[in-house]
Formats: sequence, structure tokens, C-alpha cells
Amino acid sequence: MVQSITLRRPDDMHLHLRDDAMLRTVLPYSVRQFARAIVMPNLKPPVTTVAAARAYRERILQALPAGSAFEPLMTCYLCDGTDAAEIEAGFKERVFTAVKLYPAGATTHSEYGVTGIDRIARVLDVMQELGMPLLIHGESTDPSVDVFDREAVFLDHTLKPLLDTFPALKVVLEHITTEQAANFVAADTSGRLAATITPQHLLFNRNAMFTGGLRPHYYCLPVLKREQHRLALRRVATSGSRAFFLGTDSAPHERGTKEAACGCAGIFSAPTALEAYLTVFDEEGALEHFEAFASENGRRFYGLPPNEGTVTLTRERINAPRSIALENGKSIETFMGGDELRWRLVDPSNA
Ligand code: NCD
Ligand code: ZN
Repeated sequence: MVQSITLRRPDDMHLHLRDDAMLRTVLPYSVRQFARAIVMPNLKPPVTTVAAARAYRERILQALPAGSAFEPLMTCYLCDGTDAAEIEAGFKERVFTAVKLYPAGATTHSEYGVTGIDRIARVLDVMQELGMPLLIHGESTDPSVDVFDREAVFLDHTLKPLLDTFPALKVVLEHITTEQAANFVAADTSGRLAATITPQHLLFNRNAMFTGGLRPHYYCLPVLKREQHRLALRRVATSGSRAFFLGTDSAPHERGTKEAACGCAGIFSAPTALEAYLTVFDEEGALEHFEAFASENGRRFYGLPPNEGTVTLTRERINAPRSIALENGKSIETFMGGDELRWRLVDPSNA
């Protein structure tokens, strides 16, 4: 049995770092594991301009632990009124790596999102020409659609027509959760379509939200699905296909805002993300494909150079921390908090 695995330093291709005190608290957990991250722009107010992205990038760099190296890759939050010239300028000035499309109302802080693809056609034309990736939260916002069907409906009603209308646009379908999305992305032969997959969607099905009671710390969007979908995600993630890569969607919320009458969506997986993913590859007998998923497929899709350096994980039983304290005395509950993990990321400082 393999006891230790060393891979090129990975990247997190979908990460929520938030801002201010929350940013200072959560950032070190990602920095320990990842060299770069695609940073989501759904702040309040959202990051919609080159100036705002530059300033946010600067705040992230200021919050880095002393002596650490980490490159935040910034995204622009797309609105109905986004100016194509702003996107182009941000890309050419190397501030924006990609653009994030939230259908208006689909998820946390998406109220300024897009109400129809026709509203952003000019921006998508320009992005297609630039080779700039569009990152999509792929859920229908039609309130008559069942919450468990929103991704599948989005594929048919929105994504397929969008891909036909913009045949050269690079698209990442973010945090996929269904067999339909897994099969759709796996069937693409053009190389311009890819998907990120979170640890929670590989490790849990929707029962996790209801085990013995309502479990808000297993609630995220898109919501966990049936077992058949989890199994399909595991198949494609561990298949060696270049179209699938690591994106944790680690999304911290203060405990009280999740344990509430109307709790926030988002799972804070940053502290043990790499261990959680590796558990999946180990269980699937696919350790040989782990490095591609974590460190190669994403950066290749984005046209980024490979990272220098490596990380090592060893087969050891550890308990995930239950919660992380915030500066204000409150806390964030962590993904699989208190559960036993079978891998441990070796801290380079005491390796
Ligand atoms: C994310 C958040 O909290 O910002 N929540 C989530 O459940 N994934 C938003 C998102 O990525 O949908
Ligand atoms: Zn997200």
C-alpha cells in the first residue's frame, strides 16, 4: 500500500477568500496547500471593475502569512451591464484571469448577476476573441424548477445554447454535482469545456444534510445530490480526463449565519481540502491520476505555467479541526469537522 505521495504543488481553481478579518483567518489554510487560486468575486459589493480587483488582490497579498508565496488569480463578477472594454482591459493588464457568471439569484451574493445571456453577448464575444475563460455557476434560477434539478435544467436551457452561440469560448462549469453535467463535460472533444469538482460532492450525497437532523454545515450550492450523481462525479474526477480539475469552492460563513432560520449556503473545506480529495482517489484506486487533477489539468486549461515545488501527503489518521476561531470571537465550522481523515499534508516547516 502506498504510504506517501508527493505531487507538484497544486492550485485551487475555485475559492472564496472573503475580505478583512475573515480573509486573514481563512487565507493561511489555502496557502499551506496551494500555490495559486482562482478567487471568486462575490464580495459585498461584488468585484466588477479592474480597480476593485486590483485592490482586492492587494488586500489578499497583504493578508498572506509572512514568508509565504501564493498567487491570487482574480475574476470579474459579470452583471447585465458589464462593459466589454473593462473586461478586455483587465485581461490585458493581467488583473482579471477569468470572468464569473452567476445567474441572478442563484447563490450567495448573486443578486447583481446576469438575468439573461442576451444581456452579456458583447462581453462573451470579446472574451471568445481574447481566449479568456468564462466560469459558470450552472443552475437555473426558475423558481418552478426543483432545487435538485437546477443544474440539469441549466445545461439544457442555458449552457448548450451558449456553447453553440460562442463556439470558441472557453468555459468552466463550476462545482458540478450531477451525472448529466459529468457526462456532458466528458463528452466534449473540443478541449474548450472543463469542470471543477468540490470535495463535498465527491464524498457525500444529499443524505448528509439530513443525518439524524438538519445539518447546515453540509449545505452548499449547488446542493448535494443523490448517490448516483456522486458516483458519476467520482468516475470522471478519477478517470484521468483533462477536462476535470480541483476547485474546492471553500466558502466560509460565520457559524451563526449557517445555523439559522434561513442559513447561508457554503462549506468551508480549506483546512483539509487536499486530504479529502486524496481520500477519494485512494478509495477509487486512482492515486496515479491525483496529480493531474490537482496540479496539471486546471493550470493547463487556464494556460498557466506549472508550479515549482511539491507537496507531500502521508497515510496517517488525523481528525479534521471542528471549527476555526475568527478575530471577533465567532467561528467557522469546518467541512468534516471532527471526522477522521486518512491522509495528512506534511507541513514543509517540520517535514
Ligand atoms: C458560495 C458562497 O458562499 O460564496 N456558496 C456555495 O454554497 N457554494 C457561492 C457559490 O459558489 O455558489
Ligand atoms: Zn463558489
